[in-house]
Amino acid sequence: MQPKTRDELARMRDAGRVVRTVLDEVAAAAVAGVSTAELDRLAESRTRQLGAIPAFKGYLGYPASICISVNDEVVHGIPSGKRILREGDVVGLDFGAIVAGFHGDAAETVVVGKGTPEAERLVAATRAALQAGVAAARPDGRVGDIGAAVQRSAEAAGFSVVREFVGHGIGRKLHEPPQVPNFGEPGTGPFLRPGLVLAIEPMVNAGLPGVRTLPDGWTAVTQDGSLSAHFEHTVAVTEEGPEILTRTAT
Ligand code: MF3
Ligand code: CO
Repeated sequence: MQPKTRDELARMRDAGRVVRTVLDEVAAAAVAGVSTAELDRLAESRTRQLGAIPAFKGYLGYPASICISVNDEVVHGIPSGKRILREGDVVGLDFGAIVAGFHGDAAETVVVGKGTPEAERLVAATRAALQAGVAAARPDGRVGDIGAAVQRSAEAAGFSVVREFVGHGIGRKLHEPPQVPNFGEPGTGPFLRPGLVLAIEPMVNAGLPGVRTLPDGWTAVTQDGSLSAHFEHTVAVTEEGPEILTRTAT
């Protein structure tokens, strides 16, 4: 909960820029016929070319550089040479990098080719839920304002938010206090202060909110087999409002 200094924020901007660059390139490469292991190799090699370190590889024993979670997989899917993307797949890409000792973390969900109307609606609603959460990351706001905004947005679209995984503070460590749930009540939780940097990351299910972990110990899937989507930004709280450090350059 210690606010970042100006110098630390500058390094987090650099980390966010690398994360965005790699994530955009991996998203563009997520086409029918490609394996998720190929996308993992692309993520790792581009990260190292950019002079950065993949943040997830080896973190708590995680075996890859990126998490790729397809269809009913919610988060933490492990890339595999046997997992070949097909037309219509809903592909969650979650990626983190370390630059000069500071982390960036972001996620995107893309549909391979043309998806079902439900898949397209779910992806759009999850992106909108992240935007609602980011807009609530204001100085003098509370962490609960973010969760409430995410939940309200996702549920208004007829979908449900996952409770078992939460967003987080981020900086020298991938996961720092506070936890940032994607549900809750406005006006509750820790106060948001300038210099606080948060990873806001709604996971939204098309069906019921329940998830379970596969025997690989990592991959979380929806209990009811419904589709799930995930979006994440690393966001700095500033006097002027939220600054998205992992935003696509325009
Ligand atoms: N964005 C995810 C998170 O913040 C990614 C962590 S995956 C892990 O938890 F492999 F690094 F654990
Ligand atoms: Co995260």
